[in-house]
Amino acid sequence: MSPSSPLAACLAIAMVALLACRHEHAAAAAVPTLSTASRWVVDESGSRVKLACVNWPSHLEPMLAEGLSNRPVGAIAASVAAMGFNCVRLTWPTFMVTNASYGDLTVAQSFRRLNLTDALAGVRANNPAVVDLKLIDAFKASPLPLAVVSSLGEHNVMVILDNHLSKPGWCCSNTDGNGFFGDVYFDPDVWVDGLTRMATMFAAVPNVVGMSLRNELRGPRQNANDWYKYMQRGVEAVHAANPRVLVILSGLSFDNDLSFLNTRPVNLSFTGKTAFEVHWYSFSNSQEWSSGNANQACARISSGVASHALYLLDKGWPVILSEFGVDNRGGNANDNRYYGCAAAVAADLDLDWALWALQGSYYLREGVVGLDEVYGVFDWAWRGPRNATALRRVQALQRPLRGPGLAQVAAPYTTLFHPVTGTCVVVRRRSPPAMELLELGPCDETEAWDFSATQQRLAVRGSSGCLRAEGVGRPVSLGVSCGDAMARWSLVSDSKLHVAVNATAAGDGALCLDVGADGRSVVTNPCRCLRDDNSCDPESQWFKLVASTRSVAGKQSLLAQQLPLKLKNWRVRSF
Ligand SMILES: *[C@@H]1O[C@H](CO)[C@@H](O)[C@H](O)[C@H]1NC(C)=O
Ligand SMILES: *[C@@H]1O[C@H](CO)[C@@H](O)[C@H](O)[C@H]1NC(C)=O
Ligand SMILES: *[C@@H]1O[C@H](CO)[C@@H](O)[C@H](O)[C@H]1NC(C)=O
Ligand SMILES: *[C@@H]1O[C@H](CO)[C@@H](O)[C@H](O)[C@H]1NC(C)=O
Ligand SMILES: *[C@@H]1O[C@H](CO)[C@@H](O)[C@H](O)[C@H]1NC(C)=O
Repeated sequence: MSPSSPLAACLAIAMVALLACRHEHAAAAAVPTLSTASRWVVDESGSRVKLACVNWPSHLEPMLAEGLSNRPVGAIAASVAAMGFNCVRLTWPTFMVTNASYGDLTVAQSFRRLNLTDALAGVRANNPAVVDLKLIDAFKASPLPLAVVSSLGEHNVMVILDNHLSKPGWCCSNTDGNGFFGDVYFDPDVWVDGLTRMATMFAAVPNVVGMSLRNELRGPRQNANDWYKYMQRGVEAVHAANPRVLVILSGLSFDNDLSFLNTRPVNLSFTGKTAFEVHWYSFSNSQEWSSGNANQACARISSGVASHALYLLDKGWPVILSEFGVDNRGGNANDNRYYGCAAAVAADLDLDWALWALQGSYYLREGVVGLDEVYGVFDWAWRGPRNATALRRVQALQRPLRGPGLAQVAAPYTTLFHPVTGTCVVVRRRSPPAMELLELGPCDETEAWDFSATQQRLAVRGSSGCLRAEGVGRPVSLGVSCGDAMARWSLVSDSKLHVAVNATAAGDGALCLDVGADGRSVVTNPCRCLRDDNSCDPESQWFKLVASTRSVAGKQSLLAQQLPLKLKNWRVRSF
């Protein structure tokens, strides 16, 4: 983009005026209109759009998107795009649009009412244009810079408007009055009115591509009959007001449960514009991750998530993992074990998702001013990533692996995905001496592997060699001799995330793929805590064999050509 373009001019002027720029950039915007094709979210041409979103809250008491006291909204939006998220799940409370005692407040009034003096000064410094706007106008302005960003060619940041609760505040508890239809703050008529207003208000904003009806239904009143009664009403209301948006339905029990749909599907007047969402945190299962064996926990819990929600993929519905995430400080054992397992599932099914969360801190949360968000992508001050390592491993899930319109290779191949680092096994060539090393590297540089469960063979497609174990703590190799036990791989442990050979004959027992002491090389080590033991962490040995059709950028053919040549130079081992 050249600095003199009209878009740059739009960016440069006050945010209020961005409203006026909308029509100009709308034509240039490459934001898709979403619909569904069986389990996939697709664009107008039927090609897959993978939602790789981040949650950005605007539903707490101040009712302003968090972070505007720290940085200009356009800078935050640009960071979102630069970090590779193509979408934001932007939350809002019903009362902001249905109740004048909230909706009539300006940003300044809302902050003063809560004594948020410093935060207001920060908003004034970083986003002066929103200070005297009504809250809803500030909210409208918030996604618009995203629309501007999206029109800049490379960055397409879509927005899903998420009705998070009714009464502004932190969410969610069983008893906060916002949990289910009929709760003290959850009048179904007011809710439908709020949804209709939002759908109408944003009908002409191209990058608002989706609306989720209600976050985390819950509490003593929850029941499936009322879910159908009101959710179907909500879907129809949104669709009538804005037939362009994808409408997203959440389940019961804090959006952990959509199992009731197995026997009774939704009954809607239209098709192709609805998806479901599910939330999955470590604490969705209390302390099961840290108190039990991690492989057994992974097998049991992921099969529960499948039977409660992800089974809908097989029934032809998209299911968006619209909240997941971990304490990014790395010290929560429950979270650490959960993450490797959840990321393996997300990669395996190539899920659409929204990470919790963007915000490094809150203006005010649960009575605490400036509360630090340890799950946040940003640091407290919203300047840079809180934990670049944690961000990188989530970024590995951003690009689609398969789906309509995306197939780049004839037949799906396998990637050896290491979920806990967000990397894949790649082949590096070193010379001199000419040799190949297997390392963890960017998944974009993966080899096209083929795994045959019957032959127990793991090989680079098109090559005559195979993956071989070389002993405890030693790097694995690409060998020519593939018939012995050191080259026969199987998926062991309940999680099926251990990729192992039986090296008993060599005196080593079961050896599993692992990360070497350098943090990069791929080695084998004795398989760790396959079952029962809850005191050790197997995650470094977790590899998921994930199907992909994403282009391997010529690597496959290159390797196939080079392999016979290079084999001559190998240190040929005697087997
Ligand atoms: C609007 O919000 C105020 C303050 O919470 C509340 O007292 C009032 O009952 C609400 N009105 C409606 C119509 O929901
Ligand atoms: C704001 O400060 C005033 C004066 O100190 C106090 O009376 C009031 O309760 C405070 N309001 C809130 C929401 O904290
Ligand atoms: C679906 O909804 C329509 C319109 O409300 C109704 O006529 C029909 O009986 C419903 N079908 C089922 C299976 O409930
Ligand atoms: C960053 O995240 C990684 C992955 O969870 C963790 O191992 C590390 O301890 C974290 N580092 C910091 C400084 O928080
Ligand atoms: C591993 O191989 C040995 C023979 O070398 C065999 O006795 C043993 O049953 C095998 N273990 C498994 C788990 O297959």
